[in-house]
Amino acid sequence: MATFIYSLLPSFFFIIILIYIIFYKPKQDTKLPSGQMGLPWIGETILFYRAQRKNQLFVNFFQPRIKKHGKIFKTKLMGSPTVVVNGAAANKFFMSNEFKLVVSSWPTSSVEMMGKNSIMEKQGDAHHCLRGIIASMLGPTGMQMMMPKTCISIQKHLQKNWENNEEISLHRSTKRLTFTIVLECLFGIGIEQETMIGIFECVLEGVLAAPINLPWTKFSRAKKARADIEKVLVDEVRRKQEAMESGKDEENGMLLSNLVAALIRGEITEAEVVDNVVLLVFAAHDTTSYAISMTFKMLANHPDCYSVLLKEHEEIARAKRPGETLNLEDVKKMEYTWQVARETMRLCPPIFGSFRKATTDIEFEGFIIPKGWKVLWTTYGTHYDEEYFPDPMSFNPSRFADLVQAYAFIPFGGGPRLCAGYQLAKLIILVFMHYVVTRYDWSLVYPDEPIVMDPLPFPSKGMPIKISPKSDN
Ligand code: HEM
Repeated sequence: MATFIYSLLPSFFFIIILIYIIFYKPKQDTKLPSGQMGLPWIGETILFYRAQRKNQLFVNFFQPRIKKHGKIFKTKLMGSPTVVVNGAAANKFFMSNEFKLVVSSWPTSSVEMMGKNSIMEKQGDAHHCLRGIIASMLGPTGMQMMMPKTCISIQKHLQKNWENNEEISLHRSTKRLTFTIVLECLFGIGIEQETMIGIFECVLEGVLAAPINLPWTKFSRAKKARADIEKVLVDEVRRKQEAMESGKDEENGMLLSNLVAALIRGEITEAEVVDNVVLLVFAAHDTTSYAISMTFKMLANHPDCYSVLLKEHEEIARAKRPGETLNLEDVKKMEYTWQVARETMRLCPPIFGSFRKATTDIEFEGFIIPKGWKVLWTTYGTHYDEEYFPDPMSFNPSRFADLVQAYAFIPFGGGPRLCAGYQLAKLIILVFMHYVVTRYDWSLVYPDEPIVMDPLPFPSKGMPIKISPKSDN
């Protein structure tokens, strides 16, 4: 009997080992990224805000943590445990897994100001539907229509605000200009600009303010301004709807017509139309104007680059008849200018990054990001990494003459939430550069003007520049 049992032992062990191999799941080597969670509840928010206000987010906040903990690190910001991710692989993973593993996640005040029905709050099919309508005017066909309007708008703006002036605030000027281009040329909304721009700016101030609704707070002022805008826009939308339903719409083909057409078809609501007008004005306003201002600053500090850029525009201008406006073919020729603008946005990105929320436990590069945690991708962490951009702190536009690794240059984000207005921003920047550099000599009043952030970056003195019309104009 004993011999029989002994003879079975090898088979017994063999079966045990087999069961072990089949059913054993090695304990996954996943862990939270390293990093510090800071103080209870507020975490490292104060350090983050302090660095942000001085426009030192990279040097004072991201860089020391990347050095200590690596490109993926944890922290706690605005009450939420957060994993900060940097590098092309992380950008690709988190941006392209929008709706699958993460969803965009904005602070309460931003949602209140932009509206719960704006595209940034939409997920999945609802996002896809709205994105389709908005993209109808912001893709290649839209750009064909926007091109002449943008040229006229920029020339009118320069005539009205630059002519007979020796000094202007470049940043204020470009903010006003993008506001006009988005409202008038893109949407076809001709409401009174001067009052509206002030009200919009008041709303923008509340976008990242603490959501405390007391009479003296920024948030409360912004909420009131938001209600004023809503009233004006609701009237506009209803007027447009009436005109379209009675076949009397004269401005057909503009983005407001496309949105109202979708409203009439029952695809979107009136609130969705209004909230997305507000969102697009906000999305275009401070970003494009900052990109333009910083491009001028970089050119002022790099006269060799300015000479190359100027030559590019003089050649384009020489090929035009007097009074002939630019076309998309001319814009294609502005290759070096676009390299300069991209290099500027690499070093001075208008958006420092964006928050997402994990909708499930996420495994990435051996780390686990628990469901409900925030994920923050940052432009700086990749743009300033020498793995993608050798000698990263130097201004070298020609680096964009070569193909840049996917997801390493991300001023416009990526994945399903890639900036919908990317092509319009490019058009405004290039056309504006053209008309300014071919018509004006200019110089910065304060070459070392500090940049501050609230919540987006801007030149602290509005970037005044001295201007004089070129003699051959
Ligand atoms: C230099 C100028 C601009 C920069 C740097 C910029 C940057 C960005 C970034 C980084 C995002 C993605 C945010 C995220 O992932 O959470 C974004 C989204 C967006 N941008 Fe821009 N933007 C610019 C100009 C514009 C303009 C001119 C418009 C339209 C008129 C626009 C409309 C939008 C919209 C609608 C979204 C949301 C897309 C979505 O959620 O599907 N942007 N932008």
